[in-house]
Amino acid sequence: MAEHVCPVWVGYLLLSPPRKLWESPRKVLGPYMSPGMTVLEPGRGMGFFTLPASQMAGPEGKVLAVDIQPKMLQKVRAQGAGQRG
Ligand SMILES: C[S@@+](CC[C@H](N)C(=O)[O-])C[C@H]1O[C@@H](n2cnc3c(N)ncnc32)[C@H](O)[C@@H]1O
Repeated sequence: MAEHVCPVWVGYLLLSPPRKLWESPRKVLGPYMSPGMTVLEPGRGMGFFTLPASQMAGPEGKVLAVDIQPKMLQKVRAQGAGQRG
């Protein structure tokens, strides 16, 4: 793995619920997203933005969320995000 990539333990920190108090995914993404969109989320980490983005994209939309670290992807899969075709 690359030497300077975000450590997996930081991924858990970034996923912690209190983060929503100062960085609401819906507020951050709201001006840029609308239902039916296809969205690319590079470096999704453990998915802080992924599930909200998927909900905002709606059943007609799609979120293509990628990460270079398999351990980050496992956490997102465990949450049920990223499974929609
Ligand atoms: C600081 S974390 C941010 C995670 C998430 N976006 C968040 O806000 O909680 C950056 C993420 O980008 C990923 N990353 C770094 N370089 C990447 C690359 N070239 N392609 C895909 N993901 C990458 C890391 O593995 C890490 O999970």
